[in-house]
Amino acid sequence: MFHHLPRSGAHKLMLGFLFTCITMMLYCFSTPTFQGNTPRFPVPAPCANKTPPSQKNKGSFSSSEVKHCVPKVNLMFLKTHKAASSTILNILLRYGEKQRLTFALPNGRNDFAYPATFTRTHVKDYRPGACFNIICNHMRFNAPEVEALLPADAFFFTILRDPALVFESSFHYFKRVVPLIWRIHGEDKLTEFLNDPQLYFNSEGFNSFYLKNPHFFDLGFDNTLEPEDPTVDSAIHAIAERFQLVLIAEHFEESLILLKDALCWQMDDLLFFNMNTRRPSSVSQLTPELRVKAREWNSVDWKLYRYFNATLWAKVDAYGRERMQKEVKKLRQRNSEMAAICISGGMAVEDQDIRDQSMRPWQPVGESSILGYNMKSNIEPQYRELCRKMLTPEIQYLTDLGVNLWITRLWGWFKAFLTL
Ligand SMILES: *[C@@H]1O[C@H](CO)[C@@H](O)[C@H](O)[C@H]1NC(C)=O
Repeated sequence: MFHHLPRSGAHKLMLGFLFTCITMMLYCFSTPTFQGNTPRFPVPAPCANKTPPSQKNKGSFSSSEVKHCVPKVNLMFLKTHKAASSTILNILLRYGEKQRLTFALPNGRNDFAYPATFTRTHVKDYRPGACFNIICNHMRFNAPEVEALLPADAFFFTILRDPALVFESSFHYFKRVVPLIWRIHGEDKLTEFLNDPQLYFNSEGFNSFYLKNPHFFDLGFDNTLEPEDPTVDSAIHAIAERFQLVLIAEHFEESLILLKDALCWQMDDLLFFNMNTRRPSSVSQLTPELRVKAREWNSVDWKLYRYFNATLWAKVDAYGRERMQKEVKKLRQRNSEMAAICISGGMAVEDQDIRDQSMRPWQPVGESSILGYNMKSNIEPQYRELCRKMLTPEIQYLTDLGVNLWITRLWGWFKAFLTL
Protein backbone atom coordinates (compact mmCIF):
# COMPACT_ATOMS: atom_id res chain seq x y z
CA MET A 1 0.00 0.00 0.00
CA PHE A 2 2.98 2.34 0.48
CA HIS A 3 4.93 1.40 -2.59
CA HIS A 4 4.10 4.66 -4.35
CA LEU A 5 5.67 6.72 -1.57
CA PRO A 6 9.11 8.28 -1.98
CA ARG A 7 11.87 6.17 -0.43
CA SER A 8 13.90 9.02 1.02
CA GLY A 9 15.17 8.71 4.61
CA ALA A 10 13.34 11.83 5.78
CA HIS A 11 10.00 10.50 4.59
CA LYS A 12 10.66 7.18 6.23
CA LEU A 13 11.47 8.89 9.50
CA MET A 14 8.34 11.04 9.31
CA LEU A 15 6.16 8.06 8.60
CA GLY A 16 7.87 6.07 11.33
CA PHE A 17 7.10 8.86 13.75
CA LEU A 18 3.48 8.90 12.60
CA PHE A 19 3.21 5.16 13.06
CA THR A 20 4.55 5.55 16.59
CA CYS A 21 1.99 8.22 17.46
CA ILE A 22 -0.90 6.26 16.01
CA THR A 23 0.15 3.09 17.83
CA MET A 24 0.51 4.96 21.13
CA MET A 25 -3.02 6.28 20.67
CA LEU A 26 -4.35 2.85 19.82
CA TYR A 27 -2.64 1.48 22.89
CA CYS A 28 -4.20 4.10 25.16
CA PHE A 29 -7.65 3.29 23.77
CA SER A 30 -7.15 -0.45 24.02
CA THR A 31 -5.91 -0.48 27.61
CA PRO A 32 -9.23 -0.26 29.55
CA THR A 33 -10.87 -3.15 27.66
CA PHE A 34 -7.70 -5.15 28.03
CA GLN A 35 -7.70 -4.86 31.81
CA GLY A 36 -11.20 -6.30 31.89
CA ASN A 37 -10.31 -9.80 30.74
CA THR A 38 -7.68 -10.79 33.32
CA PRO A 39 -7.06 -13.12 35.10
CA ARG A 40 -7.55 -16.29 33.18
CA PHE A 41 -5.85 -18.68 35.55
CA PRO A 42 -6.36 -19.41 39.23
CA VAL A 43 -3.85 -17.39 41.19
CA PRO A 44 -1.68 -19.48 43.52
CA ALA A 45 -1.00 -18.53 47.09
CA PRO A 46 1.78 -16.01 47.70
CA CYS A 47 5.23 -17.53 47.33
CA ALA A 48 5.86 -16.85 51.00
CA ASN A 49 3.51 -19.74 51.83
CA LYS A 50 5.65 -21.91 49.56
CA THR A 51 2.89 -24.45 49.10
CA PRO A 52 2.67 -26.01 45.66
CA PRO A 53 -0.87 -26.10 44.21
CA SER A 54 -2.87 -29.24 44.91
CA GLN A 55 -2.11 -32.06 42.56
CA LYS A 56 -4.61 -34.23 40.80
CA ASN A 57 -3.13 -36.70 38.41
CA LYS A 58 -5.91 -36.99 35.89
CA GLY A 59 -4.01 -38.29 32.89
CA SER A 60 -4.92 -41.71 31.58
CA PHE A 61 -1.86 -43.86 31.06
CA SER A 62 -1.03 -47.49 30.61
CA SER A 63 0.17 -49.47 33.62
CA SER A 64 3.75 -49.54 32.34
CA GLU A 65 3.82 -45.77 32.49
CA VAL A 66 2.46 -45.40 36.02
CA LYS A 67 4.84 -43.27 38.03
CA HIS A 68 4.88 -43.03 41.77
CA CYS A 69 5.71 -39.40 41.70
CA VAL A 70 3.91 -36.08 41.61
CA PRO A 71 4.22 -33.99 38.44
CA LYS A 72 6.17 -30.80 39.00
CA VAL A 73 4.27 -27.71 37.94
CA ASN A 74 6.43 -24.88 39.25
CA LEU A 75 8.90 -24.20 36.51
CA MET A 76 11.51 -21.68 35.49
CA PHE A 77 12.68 -22.10 31.91
CA LEU A 78 15.43 -19.71 30.88
CA LYS A 79 14.65 -19.21 27.21
CA THR A 80 18.06 -18.74 25.64
CA HIS A 81 18.37 -17.22 22.16
CA LYS A 82 18.72 -19.30 18.98
CA ALA A 83 18.70 -22.66 20.74
CA ALA A 84 15.38 -24.37 19.89
CA SER A 85 13.84 -22.61 22.86
CA SER A 86 10.66 -21.60 20.99
CA THR A 87 9.81 -25.27 20.65
CA ILE A 88 10.18 -25.72 24.43
CA LEU A 89 8.15 -22.58 25.01
CA ASN A 90 5.24 -24.05 23.03
CA ILE A 91 5.42 -27.24 25.13
CA LEU A 92 5.34 -25.20 28.35
CA LEU A 93 2.52 -22.91 27.29
CA ARG A 94 0.37 -25.90 26.41
CA TYR A 95 1.22 -27.73 29.63
CA GLY A 96 0.46 -24.69 31.74
CA GLU A 97 -2.85 -24.07 30.01
CA LYS A 98 -3.91 -27.69 30.31
CA GLN A 99 -3.08 -27.85 34.02
CA ARG A 100 -4.54 -24.38 34.61
CA LEU A 101 -1.27 -22.99 35.96
CA THR A 102 -0.35 -19.34 36.28
CA PHE A 103 2.31 -17.80 34.06
CA ALA A 104 4.43 -14.80 34.94
CA LEU A 105 4.10 -13.17 31.53
CA PRO A 106 5.91 -10.20 30.05
CA ASN A 107 4.21 -6.89 29.54
CA GLY A 108 3.81 -5.20 26.15
CA ARG A 109 6.31 -7.44 24.39
CA ASN A 110 7.37 -11.07 24.21
CA ASP A 111 10.37 -10.75 26.54
CA PHE A 112 11.02 -9.33 29.99
CA ALA A 113 12.57 -6.03 28.82
CA TYR A 114 15.53 -7.95 27.38
CA PRO A 115 18.49 -7.20 27.40
CA ALA A 116 17.86 -5.46 30.72
CA THR A 117 18.49 -7.70 33.71
CA PHE A 118 15.25 -9.25 34.91
CA THR A 119 13.36 -7.71 37.79
CA ARG A 120 9.97 -8.81 39.10
CA THR A 121 8.39 -5.52 38.02
CA HIS A 122 8.77 -6.63 34.37
CA VAL A 123 5.97 -9.13 34.98
CA LYS A 124 2.49 -8.29 33.69
CA ASP A 125 0.05 -7.47 36.51
CA TYR A 126 2.83 -7.75 39.08
CA ARG A 127 1.79 -6.95 42.64
CA PRO A 128 3.97 -7.40 45.73
CA GLY A 129 3.64 -10.96 46.99
CA ALA A 130 2.43 -12.30 43.63
CA CYS A 131 3.37 -15.92 43.03
CA PHE A 132 3.30 -17.90 39.81
CA ASN A 133 3.78 -21.45 38.54
CA ILE A 134 5.75 -20.86 35.35
CA ILE A 135 8.20 -18.31 33.96
CA CYS A 136 9.39 -19.12 30.43
CA ASN A 137 9.90 -16.04 28.23
CA HIS A 138 13.18 -14.47 27.12
CA MET A 139 14.98 -12.63 29.87
CA ARG A 140 18.45 -11.86 31.12
CA PHE A 141 18.49 -14.15 34.12
CA ASN A 142 18.62 -12.81 37.63
CA ALA A 143 18.19 -15.54 40.24
CA PRO A 144 16.91 -13.59 43.28
CA GLU A 145 14.24 -11.73 41.29
CA VAL A 146 13.02 -14.92 39.63
CA GLU A 147 13.03 -16.84 42.91
CA ALA A 148 10.83 -14.16 44.49
CA LEU A 149 8.06 -15.02 42.01
CA LEU A 150 8.07 -18.81 42.32
CA PRO A 151 7.43 -21.38 45.05
CA ALA A 152 10.59 -22.69 46.70
CA ASP A 153 10.28 -26.09 45.02
CA ALA A 154 10.38 -24.62 41.49
CA PHE A 155 12.37 -26.57 38.92
CA PHE A 156 14.89 -24.49 36.96
CA PHE A 157 16.02 -25.53 33.51
CA THR A 158 17.43 -24.06 30.33
CA ILE A 159 18.82 -25.11 26.95
CA LEU A 160 22.21 -24.63 25.27
CA ARG A 161 23.28 -25.18 21.70
CA ASP A 162 26.64 -25.55 19.95
CA PRO A 163 27.99 -21.96 20.01
CA ALA A 164 29.15 -22.19 16.38
CA LEU A 165 25.56 -22.80 15.28
CA VAL A 166 24.19 -20.22 17.70
CA PHE A 167 26.63 -17.70 16.26
CA GLU A 168 25.66 -18.45 12.68
CA SER A 169 21.97 -18.27 13.53
CA SER A 170 22.28 -15.14 15.65
CA PHE A 171 24.47 -13.36 13.08
CA HIS A 172 21.91 -14.05 10.43
CA TYR A 173 18.78 -13.33 12.46
CA PHE A 174 19.98 -10.10 14.05
CA LYS A 175 22.23 -8.74 11.28
CA ARG A 176 19.96 -5.79 10.60
CA VAL A 177 19.68 -4.76 14.25
CA VAL A 178 23.38 -4.99 15.16
CA PRO A 179 25.04 -1.86 13.73
CA LEU A 180 28.55 -3.29 13.94
CA ILE A 181 27.56 -5.82 11.28
CA TRP A 182 26.52 -3.00 8.93
CA ARG A 183 30.12 -1.81 8.82
CA ILE A 184 31.43 -5.12 7.49
CA HIS A 185 32.09 -5.02 3.75
CA GLY A 186 31.82 -7.82 1.26
CA GLU A 187 29.32 -10.50 0.38
CA ASP A 188 30.10 -12.92 3.15
CA LYS A 189 30.01 -10.78 6.27
CA LEU A 190 30.04 -13.76 8.60
CA THR A 191 33.36 -15.04 7.24
CA GLU A 192 34.80 -11.53 7.24
CA PHE A 193 33.83 -11.14 10.87
CA LEU A 194 35.20 -14.49 12.02
CA ASN A 195 38.49 -13.92 10.19
CA ASP A 196 39.15 -10.91 12.38
CA PRO A 197 36.48 -10.43 15.05
CA GLN A 198 38.54 -7.89 17.02
CA LEU A 199 38.51 -5.59 14.02
CA TYR A 200 34.73 -5.39 14.00
CA PHE A 201 33.58 -6.17 17.52
CA ASN A 202 33.01 -3.60 20.17
CA SER A 203 31.44 -4.68 23.44
CA GLU A 204 29.86 -1.23 23.76
CA GLY A 205 28.15 -1.59 20.39
CA PHE A 206 24.34 -1.56 20.29
CA ASN A 207 23.01 -5.16 20.54
CA SER A 208 26.59 -6.50 20.40
CA PHE A 209 25.74 -9.20 22.97
CA TYR A 210 24.02 -11.17 20.20
CA LEU A 211 27.46 -11.77 18.69
CA LYS A 212 29.54 -12.93 21.65
CA ASN A 213 28.73 -15.64 24.18
CA PRO A 214 24.98 -14.94 24.02
CA HIS A 215 24.08 -17.89 26.28
CA PHE A 216 26.42 -16.68 29.02
CA PHE A 217 24.86 -13.24 28.61
CA ASP A 218 21.30 -14.62 28.86
CA LEU A 219 22.31 -16.45 32.02
CA GLY A 220 23.10 -13.06 33.51
CA PHE A 221 26.90 -13.02 33.27
CA ASP A 222 29.51 -10.85 31.54
CA ASN A 223 29.76 -12.16 27.98
CA THR A 224 33.10 -10.47 27.30
CA LEU A 225 35.14 -12.51 29.82
CA GLU A 226 37.95 -14.79 28.73
CA PRO A 227 37.35 -18.50 29.36
CA GLU A 228 40.40 -18.74 31.66
CA ASP A 229 38.94 -16.11 33.96
CA PRO A 230 38.12 -17.73 37.33
CA THR A 231 34.79 -15.83 37.27
CA VAL A 232 33.73 -18.07 34.39
CA ASP A 233 34.30 -21.21 36.42
CA SER A 234 32.41 -19.85 39.39
CA ALA A 235 29.59 -18.80 37.05
CA ILE A 236 29.37 -22.29 35.58
CA HIS A 237 29.35 -23.67 39.09
CA ALA A 238 26.53 -21.29 40.06
CA ILE A 239 24.51 -22.32 36.98
CA ALA A 240 24.98 -26.00 37.80
CA GLU A 241 23.77 -25.32 41.34
CA ARG A 242 20.72 -23.29 40.33
CA PHE A 243 19.51 -25.17 37.24
CA GLN A 244 18.47 -28.74 37.92
CA LEU A 245 18.66 -29.57 34.22
CA VAL A 246 20.43 -28.04 31.25
CA LEU A 247 19.10 -29.33 27.94
CA ILE A 248 21.29 -29.58 24.85
CA ALA A 249 19.67 -28.67 21.53
CA GLU A 250 21.80 -31.15 19.58
CA HIS A 251 20.31 -33.92 21.73
CA PHE A 252 16.84 -32.48 21.84
CA GLU A 253 14.75 -35.61 22.31
CA GLU A 254 17.12 -37.11 24.87
CA SER A 255 16.93 -33.80 26.74
CA LEU A 256 13.14 -33.88 26.70
CA ILE A 257 13.04 -37.43 28.02
CA LEU A 258 15.29 -36.39 30.91
CA LEU A 259 12.97 -33.46 31.51
CA LYS A 260 9.95 -35.78 31.54
CA ASP A 261 11.74 -37.99 34.04
CA ALA A 262 12.72 -35.08 36.28
CA LEU A 263 9.25 -33.51 36.18
CA CYS A 264 7.26 -36.75 36.34
CA TRP A 265 5.44 -35.85 33.15
CA GLN A 266 3.74 -38.05 30.56
CA MET A 267 5.08 -38.71 27.07
CA ASP A 268 2.16 -36.75 25.64
CA ASP A 269 3.26 -33.66 27.55
CA LEU A 270 6.39 -33.58 25.37
CA LEU A 271 4.76 -33.59 21.92
CA PHE A 272 6.20 -30.91 19.67
CA PHE A 273 6.74 -29.61 16.17
CA ASN A 274 9.93 -27.67 15.49
CA MET A 275 9.06 -24.02 15.85
CA ASN A 276 10.86 -21.02 14.43
CA THR A 277 13.16 -22.93 12.06
CA ARG A 278 14.81 -21.30 9.06
CA ARG A 279 14.49 -22.36 5.47
CA PRO A 280 17.51 -24.57 4.77
CA SER A 281 18.84 -22.33 1.98
CA SER A 282 19.24 -19.42 4.40
CA VAL A 283 21.40 -21.46 6.79
CA SER A 284 25.05 -21.08 5.87
CA GLN A 285 26.97 -24.29 6.19
CA LEU A 286 30.02 -23.34 8.22
CA THR A 287 33.24 -24.88 6.99
CA PRO A 288 35.16 -26.83 9.67
CA GLU A 289 37.61 -23.89 9.91
CA LEU A 290 34.84 -21.36 10.45
CA ARG A 291 33.19 -23.61 12.96
CA VAL A 292 36.41 -23.70 14.97
CA LYS A 293 36.73 -19.92 14.70
CA ALA A 294 33.13 -19.37 15.81
CA ARG A 295 33.70 -21.57 18.87
CA GLU A 296 36.97 -19.80 19.65
CA TRP A 297 35.26 -16.42 19.37
CA ASN A 298 32.47 -17.66 21.67
CA SER A 299 34.88 -19.56 23.89
CA VAL A 300 33.01 -18.94 27.14
CA ASP A 301 29.80 -20.36 25.64
CA TRP A 302 31.87 -23.22 24.23
CA LYS A 303 33.20 -24.01 27.70
CA LEU A 304 29.68 -23.76 29.12
CA TYR A 305 28.34 -25.99 26.37
CA ARG A 306 30.94 -28.71 26.84
CA TYR A 307 30.42 -28.70 30.60
CA PHE A 308 26.67 -29.19 30.31
CA ASN A 309 26.91 -31.61 27.42
CA ALA A 310 28.95 -33.77 29.81
CA THR A 311 26.40 -33.41 32.62
CA LEU A 312 23.59 -34.26 30.19
CA TRP A 313 25.25 -37.48 29.10
CA ALA A 314 26.07 -38.39 32.68
CA LYS A 315 22.33 -38.11 33.31
CA VAL A 316 21.57 -40.23 30.25
CA ASP A 317 23.95 -42.89 31.61
CA ALA A 318 22.21 -42.79 34.97
CA TYR A 319 18.85 -43.07 33.20
CA GLY A 320 20.09 -45.97 31.09
CA ARG A 321 21.22 -45.65 27.47
CA GLU A 322 18.99 -48.41 26.19
CA ARG A 323 15.96 -47.15 28.07
CA MET A 324 16.70 -43.72 26.64
CA GLN A 325 16.84 -45.03 23.07
CA LYS A 326 13.46 -46.67 23.49
CA GLU A 327 11.90 -43.53 24.90
CA VAL A 328 13.36 -41.33 22.18
CA LYS A 329 11.98 -43.69 19.57
CA LYS A 330 8.53 -43.54 21.19
CA LEU A 331 8.61 -39.76 21.29
CA ARG A 332 9.64 -39.49 17.63
CA GLN A 333 6.87 -41.87 16.70
CA ARG A 334 4.27 -39.87 18.63
CA ASN A 335 5.50 -36.66 17.02
CA SER A 336 5.29 -38.03 13.51
CA GLU A 337 1.80 -39.35 14.26
CA MET A 338 0.84 -35.84 15.35
CA ALA A 339 2.44 -34.31 12.25
CA ALA A 340 0.34 -36.64 10.09
CA ILE A 341 -2.77 -35.64 12.04
CA CYS A 342 -2.21 -31.87 12.18
CA ILE A 343 0.02 -30.59 9.40
CA SER A 344 -1.13 -30.06 5.87
CA GLY A 345 1.54 -31.58 3.62
CA GLY A 346 3.24 -33.00 6.71
CA MET A 347 5.94 -30.35 6.91
CA ALA A 348 6.89 -26.70 7.37
CA VAL A 349 6.36 -24.24 4.51
CA GLU A 350 7.54 -20.78 3.44
CA ASP A 351 5.93 -17.76 5.07
CA GLN A 352 4.05 -16.71 1.93
CA ASP A 353 2.52 -20.17 1.66
CA ILE A 354 0.92 -20.04 5.10
CA ARG A 355 -2.78 -19.52 4.50
CA ASP A 356 -3.92 -18.63 8.01
CA GLN A 357 -2.58 -15.27 9.20
CA SER A 358 -2.64 -16.43 12.82
CA MET A 359 -0.17 -19.22 12.01
CA ARG A 360 2.51 -16.97 10.52
CA PRO A 361 5.69 -16.77 12.60
CA TRP A 362 7.59 -13.64 13.50
CA GLN A 363 10.24 -12.82 10.91
CA PRO A 364 13.65 -11.17 11.29
CA VAL A 365 14.02 -7.64 9.90
CA GLY A 366 14.19 -7.50 6.13
CA GLU A 367 13.28 -11.05 5.19
CA SER A 368 10.94 -13.97 5.68
CA SER A 369 13.27 -16.92 6.16
CA ILE A 370 11.39 -18.43 9.11
CA LEU A 371 9.17 -21.33 8.14
CA GLY A 372 5.71 -22.05 9.49
CA TYR A 373 2.88 -24.53 9.13
CA ASN A 374 -0.50 -24.94 7.53
CA MET A 375 -2.97 -26.78 9.69
CA LYS A 376 -5.04 -29.44 8.02
CA SER A 377 -8.65 -28.44 7.52
CA ASN A 378 -10.25 -31.83 8.18
CA ILE A 379 -8.80 -32.71 11.58
CA GLU A 380 -10.85 -34.98 13.81
CA PRO A 381 -12.54 -32.95 16.56
CA GLN A 382 -10.60 -34.50 19.45
CA TYR A 383 -7.29 -33.31 17.94
CA ARG A 384 -8.34 -29.91 16.62
CA GLU A 385 -7.49 -27.88 19.70
CA LEU A 386 -4.21 -29.69 20.33
CA CYS A 387 -3.13 -29.26 16.71
CA ARG A 388 -3.95 -25.58 16.72
CA LYS A 389 -1.97 -24.96 19.91
CA MET A 390 0.99 -27.06 18.74
CA LEU A 391 1.16 -24.99 15.56
CA THR A 392 0.55 -21.54 17.02
CA PRO A 393 3.68 -19.35 16.94
CA GLU A 394 4.91 -17.67 20.11
CA ILE A 395 3.56 -14.16 19.46
CA GLN A 396 0.03 -15.34 18.73
CA TYR A 397 0.10 -17.78 21.65
CA LEU A 398 1.13 -15.06 24.07
CA THR A 399 -1.64 -12.85 22.70
CA ASP A 400 -4.12 -15.69 23.29
CA LEU A 401 -2.86 -15.83 26.88
CA GLY A 402 -3.73 -12.18 27.35
CA VAL A 403 -0.40 -10.43 26.76
CA ASN A 404 -0.93 -7.12 25.01
CA LEU A 405 2.10 -7.14 22.72
CA TRP A 406 1.82 -3.53 21.65
CA ILE A 407 5.57 -2.85 21.67
CA THR A 408 6.26 -5.99 19.65
CA ARG A 409 3.52 -5.09 17.21
CA LEU A 410 4.74 -1.54 16.86
CA TRP A 411 8.22 -2.88 16.10
CA GLY A 412 6.63 -5.32 13.64
CA TRP A 413 4.96 -2.49 11.71
CA PHE A 414 8.08 -0.44 11.74
CA LYS A 415 10.08 -3.46 10.58
CA ALA A 416 7.72 -4.13 7.69
CA PHE A 417 7.94 -0.48 6.78
CA LEU A 418 11.76 -0.38 6.87
CA THR A 419 11.91 -3.19 4.37
CA LEU A 420 9.46 -1.72 1.85
C1 LIG B 1 28.86 -34.45 24.15
O1 LIG B 1 28.93 -35.63 24.91
C2 LIG B 1 28.93 -36.81 24.13
C3 LIG B 1 28.86 -38.00 25.06
O2 LIG B 1 29.89 -37.97 26.00
C4 LIG B 1 30.18 -36.84 23.27
O3 LIG B 1 30.16 -37.98 22.45
C5 LIG B 1 30.24 -35.59 22.42
O4 LIG B 1 31.45 -35.53 21.71
C6 LIG B 1 30.10 -34.36 23.29
N1 LIG B 1 30.04 -33.17 22.45
C7 LIG B 1 30.84 -32.14 22.61
C8 LIG B 1 30.66 -31.07 21.64
O5 LIG B 1 31.67 -32.09 23.48
